[in-house]
Amino acid sequence: DKGNHRHFMAKEIYEQPETISHTLSHYVDMGAERVAIREALPFDFAELTRLTMSACGTAYYAGAVAKYWFERYARLPVDIDVASEFRYREPPLAPGGLSLFISQSGETADTLAALRYCAGQGQHVASLVNTLESTIARESGVVFPILCGPEIGVASTKALTAQLTALASLAIAAGRARGALSEEQEAELVRELVRLPTAVSQALGTEAQIMDIAKRLSKAKDVLYLGRGPMYPIALEGALKLKEISYIHAEGYAAGELKHGPIALVDEDMPVIVIAPSDELVDKTLSNMQEVAARGGNIILITDKKGAETVGQDVADIILIPEVSSFVAPILATIPVQLLAYHTAVFMGTDVDQPRNLAKSVTVE
Ligand code: M6R
Repeated sequence: DKGNHRHFMAKEIYEQPETISHTLSHYVDMGAERVAIREALPFDFAELTRLTMSACGTAYYAGAVAKYWFERYARLPVDIDVASEFRYREPPLAPGGLSLFISQSGETADTLAALRYCAGQGQHVASLVNTLESTIARESGVVFPILCGPEIGVASTKALTAQLTALASLAIAAGRARGALSEEQEAELVRELVRLPTAVSQALGTEAQIMDIAKRLSKAKDVLYLGRGPMYPIALEGALKLKEISYIHAEGYAAGELKHGPIALVDEDMPVIVIAPSDELVDKTLSNMQEVAARGGNIILITDKKGAETVGQDVADIILIPEVSSFVAPILATIPVQLLAYHTAVFMGTDVDQPRNLAKSVTVE
């Protein structure tokens, strides 16, 4: 049932304040302002020397954001790879390590093969899934649910924000176990997670403006997405979403890589979407953005009020999202990225929920 929405994808985008709350209620003890992991852990975060993650597509981007969190808040080194590469590389893994597999469906062939490889290498196997009755869940030593309800649209939306919410919680739990976070720091991070559903509702309020921008995007042949730090995987996600449902060629780049090649593409016909809410790195990303502007590039900036205050006239469109901490900002920045892809696809008249050539669950390699 799509409710009042035209597509399942729209319904699933709009469900996110609710689904994120749901995920949080599983992982967070709101009263105590602590993360409370209910699953019995067959490993001790304090003893780990490395976390190895594998996944595909959007689930891979969730892991790529979580790498920043685990490294920053838990001081835990992380390897993250797309499962189809990982499985054939057969990397050496230190015994007793933790491998985490992220999959909405729990049936993705490459992710499952990566899991079996790690199990064979004596790793603790954990998975983060939406479908609990799935092969990946069954073969895992511990299963972390994301609890976002069935996702029907082929383009993943609410599963990503639920995966990110669960991963953020796990990073806090790891940080506490490893002595990398004080009680007060944990409480502050938890408060930020708890504020997230309200901020997501506000971010959904950008829809009218995004529809205008999407009308123009639908005429583009190529689109470039830029981000830095945890916004880099969100840039990749923005490009993937645009490709898969609007069929417009889009690429995501780390903002700092711009001058190593892609800046040569910049002209007035290629929209450049920059994801840069105010954080420790915002000035660096905005200076990359100025380089695009100086070459006549057509910029769409996703930022917050503080970020917007520092930019000049050269930005055609600024999509304002609420000001939140840099910890939860990647989850919030996902919202305009989803809406941009959705409305562009609607303008183009594509089959949003069932894009050509794609399957919801990729069970063959
Ligand atoms: O079910 P999974 O999370 O393992 O699926 C992984 C990818 O196939 C999936 O995220 C795909 O990239 C989506 N179509 C992205 O919107």
